[in-house]
Amino acid sequence: MTISDERINYLDHASTTPMHPDVLEKMLPYFTEKFGNPSSLYSLAGEARYGLDEARETTASVLGTRAGEIVFTGGGSESNNLAIKGSAGLRDSGHIITTVIEHHAVIHPVEQLEKLGFDATCVGVDSSGRVDPQEVADAIRGDTFLVSVMLVNNEVGTIQDIAEIGRLARSASEKVGGNILVHTDAVQGAGKLSLNVDELGVDLMSLSGHKIYGPKGVGALYVRRGVELDPLIAGGGQERQRRSGTENVASIVGFAEALRLAESERADSRERMHALSTTLIEGVAERIPRSSFNGSNTDRVPEISNFSFEGVEGEPVLLGLDFKGIAASSGSACSSASLEPSHVLIAMGVDPALAVGSVRISLGRDTTEADISDVLQSLHEVLEQLGTFPSAK
Ligand SMILES: Cc1ncc(COP(=O)(O)O)c(C=O)c1O
Repeated sequence: MTISDERINYLDHASTTPMHPDVLEKMLPYFTEKFGNPSSLYSLAGEARYGLDEARETTASVLGTRAGEIVFTGGGSESNNLAIKGSAGLRDSGHIITTVIEHHAVIHPVEQLEKLGFDATCVGVDSSGRVDPQEVADAIRGDTFLVSVMLVNNEVGTIQDIAEIGRLARSASEKVGGNILVHTDAVQGAGKLSLNVDELGVDLMSLSGHKIYGPKGVGALYVRRGVELDPLIAGGGQERQRRSGTENVASIVGFAEALRLAESERADSRERMHALSTTLIEGVAERIPRSSFNGSNTDRVPEISNFSFEGVEGEPVLLGLDFKGIAASSGSACSSASLEPSHVLIAMGVDPALAVGSVRISLGRDTTEADISDVLQSLHEVLEQLGTFPSAK
């Protein structure tokens, strides 16, 4: 029997999502009859160019901005790297402010810049994973050129008040004669929150295709008009000199369609996601002894919930769930192979012994009440088998 013979209860949508059938359908012609290079002059290339232009318009319209401000990239990690290293690349030194709970695709480029002599301040979070906007403003210096704070955390789902962070940081920067750019990694916010760049007050915003039922290896960086970036990839000058290389037209078309669909379904899915999340969180609290919920009850996207279970590590729990046909994750996918406790949970003050026993359950558009009942039942069975609450019912 192959994996596809049985339905997997897939509860790892923050890690990646299955491709929406409409997205795939929209992409297919660009692999076959519309295969032209969008930079060529003949009419075959025009079709590819038209697809690319349309994808840029669609993306811009979801973000409430203009097509010229969208740079297509090879995914969320590249978008973050372009925002951070691209803004640093135009100067010799300076200061960046970010937070302790960012994805490694922000933390590691910032660390690379520190090795080159740049300074960085990592602002902490409270026990729910929230950044205090005033703390960001207090860290501003005259040479601060970038503030990078994620919109939604990938491990616990906490939402940051990006608009307020940007507002306070800009006013603090003006007071010391500085000039900052505000970047947000909105990879986990797409399809869940508004991505209107003016409402968020951001200059740079990272997005990724595969978190929104689009293809992997494609994303976008919003770059506010007038913002200069040093490109990571130099060459033929595509994407208005900001990202060279022949455009991945099929994936870009798929990305834009996925974003359009995610945005169009966003409002309608809210209530359903909240109801499922409530059932899950209340179910764990009621049925799983020695469990705790990590995150915010109020400022959180309902799709992502994180729990700790006393006396176990996350890995055997995940393997036990996998055996029962349930896919979940411990922390972020890239750290789920390591036994290091999650840097996000540690930053939130979770006891390291509990942090290694954390499990992230992330819901998606096909998740049902039955899937939630299934994971609650299975979690109980797995934890009981692991001997964490031998006397429990
Ligand atoms: C918050 C966040 N930022 C960036 C990324 C990286 O995106 P990609 O996998 O498209 O490079 C991820 C993926 O897990 C993420 O969750």
